Amino acid sequence: MSMRDWTIATTFALLISVFSGAAYAGGDPAAGKAQAMVCAACHGADGATGIDPSYPSLAGQNEKYLNRQLTMFQSGARNIPVMTAQLIGKSEKDLADLAAFYASLPAKGKEAGGSDVEIATATRIYKGGIAAKGVAACAACHGVSGEGNMLAGFPRIGGQMANYTIAQLTAYREGQRDSDEEYGAMMRNVAQGLTDGEIRLLADYLQGLGR
Ligand code: HEC
Ligand code: HEC
Repeated sequence: MSMRDWTIATTFALLISVFSGAAYAGGDPAAGKAQAMVCAACHGADGATGIDPSYPSLAGQNEKYLNRQLTMFQSGARNIPVMTAQLIGKSEKDLADLAAFYASLPAKGKEAGGSDVEIATATRIYKGGIAAKGVAACAACHGVSGEGNMLAGFPRIGGQMANYTIAQLTAYREGQRDSDEEYGAMMRNVAQGLTDGEIRLLADYLQGLGR
């Protein structure tokens, strides 16, 4: 099997397990809002205006994805000390409520970066992948407008801060972003085939996608 076929096969296996498994119950956005003052200091009151361009936008992000990331920050499986420190003493319900709150906020579109030629190249990779390098089409998992896949828990990547996206794609490629095998392996596999230049093109394009 080629890497691309493998990726597609994994996606279908995952989608099947998601559809046949128990649905994600979800949290209480109001209870999440009550805890989110401290988060706003870095991620912005609207959840979409981080105080640093490398801080991710959380507004309108997939709830199941957010809950998984918060759980992994808390356990240290996704090892980001600044985030782990925010979650000390929080219960599973607290994390689910925070995820529900940020998922409920409206996503905010931003401007794309890059020249017309760069945007055209990024669009081609986003929609069609790079067959020669086994890079699967991003749209297959993240949706045509970068909205993610709600049921599968694949993240929204449209409208995300370009600097954050560059850091994440690079970290997946270098094996430095830890995640669980099922989800993390998909992105490590995709990012493996991307050069620094392609990562930058994609990040600039994604920042403006879905506005
Ligand atoms: C001191 C600044 C700071 C505070 C306060 C903070 N965060 Fe973060 N957060 C970050 C940074 C920096 C990252 C990016 C980490 C990385 O590089 O992977 C992040 C990442 C995240 C992510 C991952 C987003 C993604 O797309 O994967 C989530 C979810 C998150 N924060 C939620 C929260 C919540 C909920 C709170 C409040 C309980 C909070 N943060 C408070 C700085 C902060
Ligand atoms: C087979 C499905 C699949 C494909 C194809 C795919 N992704 Fe992903 N992507 C995922 C999953 C699942 C995650 C969450 C992984 C985790 O938990 O760390 C993710 C995470 C990401 C993130 C991190 C989001 C955040 O908020 O931290 C970025 C950025 C991203 N993908 C960009 C891309 C780009 C660009 C492409 C195309 C070159 C692509 N993805 C192709 C499934 C996929």
